[in-house]
Amino acid sequence: MTLPSTAKDFTVERTARPTSDADRAAALDNPKFGIKFSDHMVRMVWTDEDGWQSRVVEPYAPLQLDPASSVLHYANEIFEGLKAYKWADGSIWTFRPQANAERLQRSARRMALPEVSVEDFIGSIEALVQVDSEWVPTTPESSLYLRPFTIATDVFLGLRRPKRVEYLVIASPSGPYFAGGVKPVSIWVERDYHRAGPGGTGAAKCGGNYASSLMPMIEAGKRGFDQVMYLDAVTSDVVEELGGMNVFIVLKDGTVATPILNGNILEGVTRSSIIELLSERDYKVVERDITVSELREGIANGDVVEAFACGTAAIITPMGRLAGEDFDLTIGDGQPGEVTMSVRQQLTDIQYGRAEDTYGWMHRLA
Ligand code: COI
Repeated sequence: MTLPSTAKDFTVERTARPTSDADRAAALDNPKFGIKFSDHMVRMVWTDEDGWQSRVVEPYAPLQLDPASSVLHYANEIFEGLKAYKWADGSIWTFRPQANAERLQRSARRMALPEVSVEDFIGSIEALVQVDSEWVPTTPESSLYLRPFTIATDVFLGLRRPKRVEYLVIASPSGPYFAGGVKPVSIWVERDYHRAGPGGTGAAKCGGNYASSLMPMIEAGKRGFDQVMYLDAVTSDVVEELGGMNVFIVLKDGTVATPILNGNILEGVTRSSIIELLSERDYKVVERDITVSELREGIANGDVVEAFACGTAAIITPMGRLAGEDFDLTIGDGQPGEVTMSVRQQLTDIQYGRAEDTYGWMHRLA
């Protein structure tokens, strides 16, 4: 599939004070996740009268926002996450950017924000990565994490569809999302708090969903758990997602199951890629409701042999322990499972250019 290339539509205003080679080398040496940022960012401005009217790559800098900006009061904000990978030959690639562009459009429609075209989305990423191509790290499992986001900058305290909006992209040289690397995470099954409800914003990638997941995550952290598993808000029994990641389970009979998209779950790009990869490897992959009761029983009697979480930032992360108010179970032997690790290897081999991309998923940026 040929994707549109519109990087040329972006004007470049280079920073007068680029990071020194030594400081950049330090930032790229074994980076943590999401702490350092490259020298430039993308900005596009939208107004009700003129639509999207400027496409600029400009120096990375704090934003100047009027305190009455709508986003600061009503959280009209949506975002995406994708990565730029440097291959062994020095070329730079990203993974399925069209899928992220389309998801940002779906989030925009749900949050009454203007849509960024697929051409502008991909062009903005190409333009930024071409200007900051030296910011892509090369240590194992590192990448330049790209964060496109749209905010309502309308200066108005009334609640209405915003008349002024900005779309920005920032880039962060990043290592693994979980500091411990590929280590099984422990999961607290949350029954008291819900991430999303029917008709809500669960399927949109909006900041509010993540903000509301923080308090339960902190409480789970105090109990000694890494992540929270959210259940549906009606029955508190159907597994939805982890807040920042989708969920998969592997059964003894070779079936791999993941919660069906029910309107409350974020449609992960990694999730859909895993479904394709495992289906082609003759696993029976099913999207269906998974209840906590089934999960508890299956882990206890050995029918559920592996479970993992996935997302752009975390890639594929094994789950080793699942617990709630009245149970505490080790999944399999508590170690990363074979299916989990093999699909992880297959996916990252494609992303880092170590294996042929027979799916047409990779898009060259520079
Ligand atoms: C991603 O996986 O890219 C996300 O946006 C999740 C976020 C919590 C880092």
